[in-house]
Amino acid sequence: MTTAVRRTAPPAIGVASPRVEAWDKVTGRAPYAIDHPVPGAAYAWVVQSTVARGVVTGVDTSRALAEDGVLAVLWHGNAPRLEPVGDPELLLLQSPRISFRGQVVAVVVATSPEAARAGADLVRVSEGGTIADTVLRIDHPALYQPVQVNAGYPARSAIGDVDAGLAASAVRVDATYRTPAEHHCAMEPHATTAFWERGCLVVFDATQASTSVHDVLAGLFELPPSAVRVVNEHVGGGFGGKAATAANTILAAMAARFVGRPVKLSLTRQQVFALGGYRTPTIQRIRLGASAQGELLAIGHDAVSQTSQLAEFVEQSAVLSRHMYAAPNRLTTHRVVALDVPTPGWMRAPGECPGSFALESAIDELAFAGNWDPVRFRIDNEPPEHPEERIPFSSRHLVECLEAGAERFGWAARDPRPAVRRDGEWLIGTGVAASTYPAITWPSTALARATADHRFDVEVNAADIGTGARTVLRQIAADALAVPLEHVAIAVGDSAIGPATVAGGSMGTASWGWAVTKACRLLRERIDRDHGGTVPDGGVAVRADTTVDVRDRPDFARDAYGAQFCQVRVSTVTGEVRVDRLLGVFAAGRIVNPTTARSQLIGGMTMGLSGALLERSVVDPRTGDFVTGDLAAYHVAVNADVPRIEVVFLDEEDPHLNPMGVKGIGELGIVGTAAAVANAVHHATGIRVRDLPIGLEHLV
Ligand code: MOS
Repeated sequence: MTTAVRRTAPPAIGVASPRVEAWDKVTGRAPYAIDHPVPGAAYAWVVQSTVARGVVTGVDTSRALAEDGVLAVLWHGNAPRLEPVGDPELLLLQSPRISFRGQVVAVVVATSPEAARAGADLVRVSEGGTIADTVLRIDHPALYQPVQVNAGYPARSAIGDVDAGLAASAVRVDATYRTPAEHHCAMEPHATTAFWERGCLVVFDATQASTSVHDVLAGLFELPPSAVRVVNEHVGGGFGGKAATAANTILAAMAARFVGRPVKLSLTRQQVFALGGYRTPTIQRIRLGASAQGELLAIGHDAVSQTSQLAEFVEQSAVLSRHMYAAPNRLTTHRVVALDVPTPGWMRAPGECPGSFALESAIDELAFAGNWDPVRFRIDNEPPEHPEERIPFSSRHLVECLEAGAERFGWAARDPRPAVRRDGEWLIGTGVAASTYPAITWPSTALARATADHRFDVEVNAADIGTGARTVLRQIAADALAVPLEHVAIAVGDSAIGPATVAGGSMGTASWGWAVTKACRLLRERIDRDHGGTVPDGGVAVRADTTVDVRDRPDFARDAYGAQFCQVRVSTVTGEVRVDRLLGVFAAGRIVNPTTARSQLIGGMTMGLSGALLERSVVDPRTGDFVTGDLAAYHVAVNADVPRIEVVFLDEEDPHLNPMGVKGIGELGIVGTAAAVANAVHHATGIRVRDLPIGLEHLV
């Protein structure tokens, strides 16, 4: 039987389509990494170092091994050897060296999670520790300027002469801002189910990037790529914390090989705080100067952050200052220090999130000092092209976001004087800040198959970390195929599909969607050309790879922008800050699905509010440990903290991005929120808070 491929269908892009996996999730049928039923599974529990810097001098496993159900204890003396690939952090249980408190020094494998945990308590690890260096300081003697920061940006950029620009300025700001370490706190902890089958390694993993986990495991265990499979069909949140290959993944694979049976390893919430990555604290100095007419003459942004003794991770906090505003004199620098701490990692809008708190606060300070409206001041300093790279923006509608937001928020009626609006015990204030995040696209592959019964199967190794990725990819596929949505089935989350990029850097929809579009278009062409427009009984399949397409794009500065407006009230009795209203107006290319997109933006803004007022990972300087290592001590915004959040998308047509015209939206929403809150707090109280989170101690 053959069937003609239908040629007409309503557009599938731009439709508020419900989540494909929603029903499975709310009924508990969606299997997460640890849920996959594997017969004969054993359970692993990690034992962590108690010193931040030192060596393991001995591991006594005898009492643990005597415990009922304990099958094995892995430590550096007996663990399977790993081939050094890339990051030394991946080389777990390979040496006695301890580089941070909480590092894995042993793993107990047992027939039940309870037995594994009991066994872990009985492992006696002797550690020799020396005084550790765990606290980031602006005057740390070991601070250095690296060559590059994250995402490959140069650590330093300089145009003109910032000191001369400042000297020539009528109005100046020179201020230092601090952001704390933060943890992602995804709902699903880091977890893995691993087993070996006829020499092949299979892992069900809580990861944002099964392609890179696949490649890392193949490297570490010296396996051909075809002998490793990583499945991550459902992931319970990531926020960057599951972007890199994690300890649980590697340890579960090692343990499964060691005991010769499947192993499940889930970190506890507390263990995630040491082993799941975190956002580095930052210290950022911003210097701004403007003429008496409100023209920015100088922008200086010097960012300091920490890394570990194991790897160089440099938060790109000053990079946004290279393109947000025009100014003839510009300087951005990054310095970093290697401490005896876990390696920081990516956390939602790495770089732009902490960087925007500093820059967008300082812009507000400068506008206030010059008696300029902060919305107008930003608009007046809009650059016509990327002010440092001197290339055109593919599209940029920051001005339109500011204008539309000001209109909707009622900004025109704002009295700029601080600390003059009062409602009983509450002081009221409003603030604004700009948002930005790069519109990144990386190569991916995808598979599209037509079957004779008029169905289409599309596969791409995307990770749906709760974003709605598979839902929008199905829409993109239906649109490219020009068939009704119901005729398309989408599969994601399996390295066996073929390489695809990480669910990170807000690049997923653009990157995976491009591969899906290409595969679907090629499939249609193939059906038309080779099969006269009908699908033969055996079906037709096409695989697409966008490596060349992505690489050969012309030079543009590609970024999404937005403007956030905030109203707060601050109690004159307790100093408590409540956010009354948050409005975000964003220009982020074409919006594939307004429902899932709105969720991404309100999620980002909620996390931004949370960072503004609550989130802080506190290090005990004596141990290097995060003393706020659970959800009782690490506070995140809950429903009662979050007002109604309004999100508005401006239609943005950008032909220079990808065939769908999409920019990323996963991270844009968190950028600028904290500055909008801090700027509103200043407007309410006259107090400028430059350290996050904003607390009672700043305000009473
Ligand atoms: Mo996101 S922090 O780039 O996974």
